[in-house]
Amino acid sequence: MKRYEGWLALMLDINGERRETVVRPADTMLRVLRERLGLRGTRIGCENGDCGACTVLVGGEPVKSCMVLAVEVEGERITTIEGLSNEALKEAFLSEGGFQCGYCTPGFLLNAAALLARHPKPSDEEIRLWLESNLCRCTGYEGIERAVKRAARGSEGGRAEGSA
Ligand code: FES
Ligand code: FES
Repeated sequence: MKRYEGWLALMLDINGERRETVVRPADTMLRVLRERLGLRGTRIGCENGDCGACTVLVGGEPVKSCMVLAVEVEGERITTIEGLSNEALKEAFLSEGGFQCGYCTPGFLLNAAALLARHPKPSDEEIRLWLESNLCRCTGYEGIERAVKRAARGSEGGRAEGSA
């Protein structure tokens, strides 16, 4: 990591690409993804760790990017919604009405992808518990849960993809 009078040069591994950027030490991963790297699919919500709208995967694990500094994730494998290639999960959200306004959807998709990677056949309880870190103001959650179940059924006999 190079330092320049209050700024730091970082090389980040995002969606399979190496992306160079310059940040301030206190910049969150959320702000750097959106404002420096143009990855605006990662949503700004509470910026307080409560809503999950900003969820991305770091090393395949769901992380609220508003709660992590960009300098902390240099050298980690980061997946944002732009790099998520689990098409079955995306299609299940479409088929089951897993979104309305869509603002929360990138965070839910990434978190659900991580769930299916770890638990390819999750129980209803596991789905509810895993996704309770994400908030949706529109759907009532039933469509989201149906979508995750549908994607799990679709992945039977194959590996559920979590980390893109
Ligand atoms: S914006 Fe990060 S948890 Fe709400
Ligand atoms: S679909 Fe609108 S907030 Fe979830």
